[in-house]
Amino acid sequence: MNRRLALLVLLLIPHALQAASREPVRAPHGMVSCVSPIASHIGADVLAKGGNAVDAAVAVGFALAVTWPSAGNLGGGGFMLVRTADGNAIALDYRERAPLAATRTMYVDANGKVIPKLSTQGYKAVGVPGTVAGLALAHKRWGKLPWKELIAPAQKLAADGFTINYMLAKSLAEKSSIEKMEPFADSKRIFLNNGKPYVMGDKLVQPELARVLARIATDPRDFYEGATAKQLVDDMRAHGGLVTAEDLRTYEPTLRTPLRTTYRGYEILTMPPPSSGGIALIEMLHMLEPYDLGAMGWHSSQHVHLMTEVMRRAFADRAQFLGDTDFVKVPVAALTSAAFAESRRKTIDPEHATPSATTGAGDPAPYESTQTTHFCVIDAQGNAVSNTYTLNDSYGAGVTATGLGFLLNDEMDDFSSAPGTPNYYGLIQGEANSIAPRKRPLSSMTPAIVLKDNKLAYALGSPGGPTIINTVLQLLVNVIDFKMNIAEAVSAPRIHHQWLPDELYWEPFDLQGDTRAALERMGHKLRAKAGFADSDTIGDAQMIGIDTNGTRMGAADTRRGGEAAGD
Ligand code: DON
Repeated sequence: MNRRLALLVLLLIPHALQAASREPVRAPHGMVSCVSPIASHIGADVLAKGGNAVDAAVAVGFALAVTWPSAGNLGGGGFMLVRTADGNAIALDYRERAPLAATRTMYVDANGKVIPKLSTQGYKAVGVPGTVAGLALAHKRWGKLPWKELIAPAQKLAADGFTINYMLAKSLAEKSSIEKMEPFADSKRIFLNNGKPYVMGDKLVQPELARVLARIATDPRDFYEGATAKQLVDDMRAHGGLVTAEDLRTYEPTLRTPLRTTYRGYEILTMPPPSSGGIALIEMLHMLEPYDLGAMGWHSSQHVHLMTEVMRRAFADRAQFLGDTDFVKVPVAALTSAAFAESRRKTIDPEHATPSATTGAGDPAPYESTQTTHFCVIDAQGNAVSNTYTLNDSYGAGVTATGLGFLLNDEMDDFSSAPGTPNYYGLIQGEANSIAPRKRPLSSMTPAIVLKDNKLAYALGSPGGPTIINTVLQLLVNVIDFKMNIAEAVSAPRIHHQWLPDELYWEPFDLQGDTRAALERMGHKLRAKAGFADSDTIGDAQMIGIDTNGTRMGAADTRRGGEAAGD
């Protein structure tokens, strides 16, 4: 190949080159980072057309509902953190709510034992979806381009189809995905290709979803009061689901004040309850601040030990205290205070693991696969969006609303069905997170925005159930304490501890033999990260940053094949 041809080839595959390097993707004006390359580019196109970060986020949110069906959604919910260039920050909570007919004991039998799968598969697992209302409210408040224009790319992808890439084919062919969706006719037809799994290069065409998107483009209330609502409610009724017309009609997203803290001169903005993530993140950062982590050496036994000990404590507190603050009293101020963290930090032994049994009580539990997805956007003006949304685990309840072409969530499993019994993620949860009509289940989703000298520095987040909180923590420590660039921070191997089970998970090729031996001598119970996700990785982070000269930088995790795209 002559040199000119080689250069041409290089120019044609810039993203392949970016992914292989340890440099972020860079662009002068704006940046989008998400798990689906098609959706990232749709977002970047919206920015190039003059849309702002919220416009791009809305377009990405709808595009992911088409191209990343395991987590991108119309039938789920999430959290969006928005910081506008004038310095205002708002947390938009469009998390699902429990249906009006939900009861505290709806997932347990007469003996109080949790009925397997009832809260994770099928119609009874479904919470009232918030995504369409959430994206519509974001657009109404901050959007610049017409709503219809932001849905059009998703509509076209659904109607004309798109090419299934390696990661989507892999996800759809997973045993857990097949088990989840096979019992439901529309899911089996649309997402499992009627039992003949899709392979990379196949086309996924979703005409029913395209029709629903067309109606939402005309009026987002269609989802809650129109033809889509009616069809959804009929389907629910026919299959023993609880979501009623009244549930949909009365669903509303909630605007909240973000939690704020500082860490080594950076200001961190993150999600308040019903997320547990913000509180736990702040508690952990407070506990870590007195230590000179940067001097310890990245993933030295001392660094890993301290990270594990703060995770253990924050997750024990999460289990005890956290729930939807619209329903229960949560001591948010105390939990996020430096003094409380200091009282917890004092119990950390620098040389030995503290057994979780003496930190709190509960039972170990098995782990399974997980799905959610994060995207972040920054525009030319400096407006930023950090958004995590989900159906809960991969493909949610497995149910595709009949004739509507979109999957429904199983977010009800994030409640504590029975105190002391672990949920899907092995999380032990308390009374504060029990089920009640209209209540929102406690979440681990932790969208975050970071400022330096009052100016935007980073936006970040991840999926991964409880590992989300620890993933966000590690990204922050990687860039702030270890001075990694965002691509390095996102790709660096991660660890996870959630109090119970009392095990320290680590990703492949991370902790070396001598580090593991040192940690075991301290009393840590190490477990190679396997089985928590379908792959053996932790989370799937997306991060955006701003370079000193204002250049926008994006780093999509390669763990699930994401891509950042700039304008
Ligand atoms: O809100 C939560 O905490 C969970 N429903 C999130 C699930 C999740 O992140 C799965 N991800 N891979």
